[in-house]
Amino acid sequence: MTNNIISASILSADFSALGNAISQCEAANCEWIHIDVLDGHFAPNISMGPFIVETCHRITRLPLDVHLMIDNPDTFIAAFISAGATNVTVHIENNQNIMRTLQLIRSLGAHPSIAINPGTPASAIESIMPFIDMALVMSVSPGFSGQKFIPEMAQKIAAVKAMAEAQNHPLIVEVDGGITAATIKECSLAGATAFVAATAIFKHPAGIQAGISDLRNALK
Ligand code: DX5
Ligand code: ZN
Repeated sequence: MTNNIISASILSADFSALGNAISQCEAANCEWIHIDVLDGHFAPNISMGPFIVETCHRITRLPLDVHLMIDNPDTFIAAFISAGATNVTVHIENNQNIMRTLQLIRSLGAHPSIAINPGTPASAIESIMPFIDMALVMSVSPGFSGQKFIPEMAQKIAAVKAMAEAQNHPLIVEVDGGITAATIKECSLAGATAFVAATAIFKHPAGIQAGISDLRNALK
C-alpha cells in the first residue's frame, strides 16, 4: 500500500493528441495531471492558460494539479479554479501578499499550495505552513521540461518535511523538475510523496504507460 502520487506534467505531451495522452495516464493509474502555467514574465517561457485546464477537465476525472509560474496570480485564480483546478500552486518569490492568495484559493474550493524555487530556502514557508495543503520544491529553475535534477534539493525536501512535522501539519511535499527513475527514489527517501514528471513520462521511448510504471517501480 502506497500513498505516492505521480503527477504527469503535460508540458511535454503531444498536444495534437492530448486526449490520448491523458487516457494513457489514466490507464497507467497515474494519480494527477500537472498543468504548468507560464506567462513569460515569472519564468522565460509561455505555455497554457485556463482553456487547457478546462479541456483537461472535460476529458478526465483525474485531479488537476495546476502550477502557476506567473506574475499577479490573484488575477487568474478564479478562472483556473472554475476551469477545474483541484490544486493551485503559487510561487512565493513574486508574491508580497501570499496569505491573501492562499485564502483566495481556499475560498474558491481548491487546495492551496506554495512552490519554492531552487534559490529559495525552506524557511520561506515556515510561517505560512498552517495555510497550505502542499509545498512544491522545485528541483530545477522554472520554465522548461527536460532540465537536469539538482541533487541538493533533496535536502530541502527533507527540511520542508521536518518543518511540517514540527508543526504537526499534514502536508504533501511535491517535487518538480528532472524527476526520472534515477532521481525519484532519493526524493521519496527525503520525504516527498508527490512527484511531477514531464519528460520521463511523455518522452519515454516505450510510451507513456511505460514511463509511469518505470517511475513507480523506482519508488519500490
Ligand atoms: C518546470 C515545470 C515542470 C516541468 C517538469 O518549469 O514546472 O513541471 O514540466 O519537466 P521534467 O519532468 O521534464 O523535468
Ligand atoms: Zn510544474
